[in-house]
Formats: sequence, structure tokens, C-alpha cells
Amino acid sequence: MLGAAIQSGYLSQAPYNATLSKHFNSVTAEYEHKWDPVQRTPGVYDFTGADQIVEFAEARGMRVRGHALVWHGATPAWVNSLSEPELRIAMEDHIRTVAGRYRGRIFAWDVVNEAVADEGQANTGGLRNSVFLQRLGPGFIAEAFRLARSAAPEARLYYNDYSIEWANAKFERTYALVKGLVDDGVPIDGVGFQMHVEAQNYPPAAQIARNMQRIADLGLVVNISEMDVRIRLAPGDLMTRLEAQKRVYREIVGVCVAQPFCDGITFWGFTDRYSWIDGFFGPDDPLPFNESYGAKPAAYGVLDALLRR
Ligand code: XIL
Repeated sequence: MLGAAIQSGYLSQAPYNATLSKHFNSVTAEYEHKWDPVQRTPGVYDFTGADQIVEFAEARGMRVRGHALVWHGATPAWVNSLSEPELRIAMEDHIRTVAGRYRGRIFAWDVVNEAVADEGQANTGGLRNSVFLQRLGPGFIAEAFRLARSAAPEARLYYNDYSIEWANAKFERTYALVKGLVDDGVPIDGVGFQMHVEAQNYPPAAQIARNMQRIADLGLVVNISEMDVRIRLAPGDLMTRLEAQKRVYREIVGVCVAQPFCDGITFWGFTDRYSWIDGFFGPDDPLPFNESYGAKPAAYGVLDALLRR
């Protein structure tokens, strides 16, 4: 399954729509399935963009990977001022409403996103110090998975995070969290590796493969959920950087292709015309298609990996 994160507002642009329809068989809402866009005002749901993305995919026989039910980012402001019982009710209502609306239509959900603390953060039991942890305690994670399973029993339920592609402490924390969930019988099916990397600094294939294998050994599946490859700080002229980017796409996509329990690869966008990287890390060209929708060397790197060359 080869996918891209998309935004409904661009679908009316012919080259955007055509490139997406031609090269991909799975989509993820880059923003529109998150909590803030669907319920900016408490109790008032708006599924305009969210529905458009699901309907676009269904009309083309593409799969939808849902992202993300519980995440500290894109949580509406009102959620931060809820008391413990209020937040518990709000989270339950949110998961039941969103996952339930698309029941049977969404292949997988990122149920909990980025709940593990980064390398430097301490004293939070290995978890990010989010409003969910503060109000509900670490049990919010298991709770979210149970709610998602009951609302969307057919969907694969994923824990998703970044920087867990390396042999590092963050992966070990994630592994411990996920193993604990499995041991407790919590309905989790997989772990998503976001894979926001840089051409001059990316996880060695062997480390990614090892981490994926350890998750698979727990009886779970894995996927690459948000891949992009920054080249702004890579050495050399543009051609050199684009070639380096191609190698990174080929190597990393190749790890998923070789892993029987890797159920998909999603890029966080597909055209350099629209990438979150420009706003977050600075101007870049991190995706397989250029700003005028031409295939970059990176796209051929992906193709090489898919064809096992
Ligand atoms: C980003 C989107 O790309 C932006 O458009 C949005 O404004 C903020 O979120 N990790 C994630 C994604 O799990 O949801 C983030 O997406 C990028 C980092």
C-alpha cells in the first residue's frame, strides 16, 4: 500500500488530483481527521473536509488510513481547560463519534499519536507531559484503544510516533509501552514509524529493520506513516542532494518492502508544492514529486525499492 497525506482543499486542482490518483492507492488526512478541525467548538462536529477525503478515496478504490484520534497537537483549545471527568467524557465522545462515523470504511487508525517522551524529557514515566497524561494518567492510552476498537472494530489500531526509527531510548520507551499494552490485552494492532528524516542524517536500514522486527515479534504489524526526506542541510549542489534523497527513499522504503508485517508506506504529502516541512523546518523539497508534479529522483528511488532493485 503506497499512500500520501492529503488536504481536501487541493483536490479541486487538476494536477494535484491526477498525480495522487495515478500513483497512490491509500490516503491519510494531513489535518482534517484531527480533533481540532472536527470539533473546534465543544459539541459541534464539522465533517466537511473529513468526509471529502474519505469519499475521494472510496470513489477511486483507495484505502484510508485515519490520523489521529488522540494527539497533543491539533487538540482544540477548549480541551485543555477540562477537568478529569470532563476530559474522560470528551475523549470517549470524540473517539466514538469520529471512529464510529467511518466504521468499516477506514483501514487503520492512528489511535494515539506521539505519547512517548522525547529523549531529554524525564519524570513522566517515559510519556509526554500532555493534557491527557496530566488529567487522565498513563491509562489514557489503553482507554483510547479500547474505545477505538469498540467504535471501529474492523480498523487496524496503531500507536504512531517519530524518532523511533533509531536504536535509541525513545524506541525502547515505545517498545515497553506497546509490550505493556499487548500483555494487558489492550486492542492494539500495530506501530507506525513516522520517518521524518534528513538526507544527511537518517536511521540506518538495519536499525529500522531491527525495531520493526521487535514490534512484529510482539505479534503486531508496522508501517511507515509520514515519510519525508529533508535536503536543505545536505551537502553538495542540488543534483547531489536530490540523488542523496533518492538513496534514502530507496533504502528506507526497502525496509518496509522486505518486512512481511509492514502493511504500508505513507509520505507526508507527495508534492514539494505543499509540505509541512517548509513551515516547520524551513524551505525544503522533501517529497517524491516536485512543485510542478514531475517525478523527482526520489520517486524512482521509491520505485526501485518497490521492485526490490
Ligand atoms: C502536521 C501537518 O502536516 C500540518 O499541516 C498541521 O498543521 C500540523 O500537523 N507528526 C504528525 C502529523 O503526526 O500529524 C504532523 O502533521 C506532522 C508531525
